[in-house]
Amino acid sequence: MAQQKIVIIGGGNLGSAIAQGLVKAKLSIASNITITRRNLGKIEHLKKEGFKLSSDNNSSVKAATLILLCVQPKQLAGLLTEISPSLDGKKHILVSTITGITTDEISSHLQKKVPIVRAMPNTAIAIGTSMTCMCSKDASEKQLKDIKDLFDGLGTTLIIEERLMKAATVLAASGIAFFLRYIRAATQGGIQLGFDAEEAQLIAAQTAKGAASLLLTQDSHPEIEIDKVTTPEGCTIAGLNEMEHQGLSSALIKGIISSYEKISNIKK
Ligand SMILES: NC(=O)c1ccc[n+]([C@@H]2O[C@H](COP(=O)([O-])OP(=O)(O)OC[C@H]3O[C@@H](n4cnc5c(N)ncnc54)[C@H](OP(=O)(O)O)[C@@H]3O)[C@@H](O)[C@H]2O)c1
Repeated sequence: MAQQKIVIIGGGNLGSAIAQGLVKAKLSIASNITITRRNLGKIEHLKKEGFKLSSDNNSSVKAATLILLCVQPKQLAGLLTEISPSLDGKKHILVSTITGITTDEISSHLQKKVPIVRAMPNTAIAIGTSMTCMCSKDASEKQLKDIKDLFDGLGTTLIIEERLMKAATVLAASGIAFFLRYIRAATQGGIQLGFDAEEAQLIAAQTAKGAASLLLTQDSHPEIEIDKVTTPEGCTIAGLNEMEHQGLSSALIKGIISSYEKISNIKK
């Protein structure tokens, strides 16, 4: 995998983060990764890190075997029409990170059959702790495994049915914002109780990390861990019940469903 020539088409937030993550995780070397975008001036710093930069998608595709698509949904159709003549179904694998675009929609823009993997990471990919859900079309088990191995180096992966990709986008990609809003709210509570903002944020963020780690490392269940910290007549159960009276769980579930309804109706 480290020897594979990779092109990342769309060197924006996600594309740049994936490029840097691949090198950090030693899954590739910078000189084997070409990053394309139209305004290269904005990623000049990546050249100093050893990445190849280009505005020529077709020649970059021809020189690569793995093609990561990281443009905005509205930019995809034009891009696929542009690179389609350079794609070779026997040589290339297309990996799309693009929200809301199905593998069928991608292949409908291509002149020939090319293995496609759809991957939905989140922005924690920049620090190697993404939750990435993926599905595929016309890819062999080995090709899907190779892409899974790659994203495993950038966090945790789950192969899912394509019909669940929108739900995965809400839970994992939008989920970053949902958890951060909780941490911000907890920080504001901590400030009101006397901590300065920096201390309150550290306490809230490390506590959130600890709570998640209890589930991930011990195969535990949230209610088991909650029971451990809710002393009868204690302060934790008083706070937790008040949060529930104010609709905490209901607000979170409704927010997730609203995001899902929105993503299902986004115009491309
Ligand atoms: N951010 C997330 O949490 C997240 C998570 C999962 C998936 N995604 C998906 O990832 C994709 C990228 O998101 P982002 O936040 O990284 O967006 P972004 O920062 O806007 O990056 C898109 C990049 O594509 C480049 N681009 C546009 N047309 C191009 C073309 N024809 N050839 C080469 N490059 C082109 C743009 O640069 P120029 O204008 O200079 O060409 C821009 O740098 C989106 O589809 C998004 O839905 C995002």
